[in-house]
Amino acid sequence: PLVSTQQIVDSARARGVGVGAFNVITLEHAEAIVAGAEQAGTPVILQISENAVKFHGGRLAPIAAAAAAVAGAAAVPVSLHLDHVENTELLYQAADAGMSSVMFDASKLDYQANVAATRAAADWAHERGLHLEAELGEVGGKDGAHAPGVRTDPAEAAAFVAATGVDALAVAVGSSHAMTTRTARLDHDLIVKLREAVPVPLVLHGSSGVADDELSAAVRAGIVKVNIGTILNVAFTGAVRETLREPSLVDPRKYLAPARTRMTAVVRHMLTVLTSDDAG
Ligand code: G3H
Ligand code: ZN
Repeated sequence: PLVSTQQIVDSARARGVGVGAFNVITLEHAEAIVAGAEQAGTPVILQISENAVKFHGGRLAPIAAAAAAVAGAAAVPVSLHLDHVENTELLYQAADAGMSSVMFDASKLDYQANVAATRAAADWAHERGLHLEAELGEVGGKDGAHAPGVRTDPAEAAAFVAATGVDALAVAVGSSHAMTTRTARLDHDLIVKLREAVPVPLVLHGSSGVADDELSAAVRAGIVKVNIGTILNVAFTGAVRETLREPSLVDPRKYLAPARTRMTAVVRHMLTVLTSDDAG
């Protein structure tokens, strides 16, 4: 069933496990992510990024409606999240599109401007019962360049959460967006310090570049929401590429079906890593 992100995050935190938040670009992504969660027997968050909305001609409603329909039919709890929103016009569409949470990304701004923009976004979200995630200490790589050296300072994080009223905080602890190898090293001591300093759940972005044991350790240290995108596309596109070696193939279902199946297996695996006893 479709539930709220707050519910899923609260329950993961209470159980001491991580929750996977996977990026949806196409209908097949939503289907694969939910199928993987059903196989793992865990809740999952479907997230649609501002970049994915741009891909769909700037329209959130169609892909959000598709994701909501897939979530509603799921055998496990599924929530809808709007990811990496920089444009406030898109933020204002979140509730109508059925999202229960938004990541508002003012991380490129300097500290004071980030606080002011995030405070306004959080106030808006809370008036509508939405959960708001923000980012402090830019997790690099969204525009191609990795910036694994950036770190979130615990004292600044505590002040930021107090000043903005956000419900979850994305932190820079060594991961970087859009990595296609799982070689990022996380600063686990820093995660512990951030967890102790910050009252709200911590979010790890750029998790595709983080190996299984590093992810388990990050959850043990205090990460709750784990954002995963690229690794799904590596699996999906790899399967498409293999299938398309057959030049007579024209029906898209012939390559989308194995790609979706390959993606499902990755989702199931990642969710198992995030929720295993090792991580508890
Ligand atoms: O917000 C989305 C995530 O941070 C995804 O990052 O594509 O590097 O796994 P990734
Ligand atoms: Zn991200």
